[in-house]
Amino acid sequence: MSKLIIEGKHKLSGAMNIHGAKNSALPVLAATILANGISEIHNCPQLSDVAASVRILRHLGCNVSRSENCVTVDSLGLCRSDIPDTLMREMRSSIVFLGAIAARTGEAHLTFPGGCELGTRPIDLHLSALRQLGMEILEDGGRLECSVKARMKGATIALAFPSVGATENIILASVTAEGTTSILNAAREPEIVDLCNYLNKCGARITGAGESAITIEGVDSLYGCAHSVIPDRIETVTYMAAAAITGSTLTLKSVNPQHVATVLPVFREAGCAVFPSKGEIKISAPGRLNRVHSVRTMPYPGFPTDAQAPVMAMITVADGTSVFIENIFESRYKHAGELMRLGAKIKIEGRVAVVEGVKRLSGTQVECTDLRGGAALVIAGLAADGVTEVTHIHHIDRGYEKLKENLCGIGAVVKRV
Ligand code: UD1
Repeated sequence: MSKLIIEGKHKLSGAMNIHGAKNSALPVLAATILANGISEIHNCPQLSDVAASVRILRHLGCNVSRSENCVTVDSLGLCRSDIPDTLMREMRSSIVFLGAIAARTGEAHLTFPGGCELGTRPIDLHLSALRQLGMEILEDGGRLECSVKARMKGATIALAFPSVGATENIILASVTAEGTTSILNAAREPEIVDLCNYLNKCGARITGAGESAITIEGVDSLYGCAHSVIPDRIETVTYMAAAAITGSTLTLKSVNPQHVATVLPVFREAGCAVFPSKGEIKISAPGRLNRVHSVRTMPYPGFPTDAQAPVMAMITVADGTSVFIENIFESRYKHAGELMRLGAKIKIEGRVAVVEGVKRLSGTQVECTDLRGGAALVIAGLAADGVTEVTHIHHIDRGYEKLKENLCGIGAVVKRV
């Protein structure tokens, strides 16, 4: 099993490029099923979750090829409507294939993606919305047997919570449905906008993406197109936190500063100078960070839950006490225990984490508990005295392309063994 060995206390400097967004690439790859032809997905990051999506597409009968960061999917030959349990379990977001497969073939046979590191993660909102579009769904011992009579029918669906995955599944199921679908209280994440931009280029008629009411006028069929995935806003925040904790100056390129607009004030409150410009963010951190008063995770455009762990890592060495309130997931503080092994002082009470800044962290062996929690440990390791060994890094490989190479390229001393 691979691990990262980080020699702490090295300053970072220079510039680096941010890769395409994992959370855009995954639903866009699922959407290529609907295109019934060839789609070229550019700026597609090389991540294990993307590889899992490619395995699902190939299992379904699609012809998929990859060169560097372009994935080409020919979905004309799609000939199956099932996803085996082993592929479903590889990543939680395999559930977004449900809407796309059923819309294309009239049926879908898969299993529950199951719980994960962040808590139980139910899919009740997905299933109830798809039923409203006319899908019959039998839930049987962890299996989902789905069928559609003739074609799905447009409906008005009000989501009880603006779930990202449920919004994506409704969009995928309804682009080729009969009539018009309205989603009320839709998720507004940039990745939803990216998915809709791809689908509209394929001939879909979707308006309102990025707002809380999305309207989808069903069309008879879609065709393939070329699309470039948006920059990864969570990777952006992760490297900003790496710069901040090491007191460094770093320029991040190929980013969209608007997508992290509500995160930048937290870095400024911590004492960093942040200069967003077109496609770029420069961050310059002080010798010691200030505490931040409170960070509340919220659906977009609020502070993203995926940025909570990296920012918590950075603030463990700030001057003063900071408070985090996790409003999206029930169990998203598992990294806190590992940060405490490095010397952080954190108290957790339900959804609240209180971080009392310490003067220094000390390197030791820590274990990744999940994707963003793993990134948090790497960030802490960059600032810790001595050597930090981060194990179970398969979690990190799900969402960060060439993390070790990127960090070494900006001055960190990291080995992967
Ligand atoms: C997506 C992102 C993930 C991010 C999350 C929140 C992808 C691949 N993943 O996950 O990185 O952390 O958005 O921004 O894009 N819920 C239900 N019932 C449902 C669906 C969701 O109760 O049917 C709950 C979840 O348990 C969670 C909350 O709603 O507490 C948010 O989940 P959701 O927005 O659906 O997140 P994902 O799409 O799974």
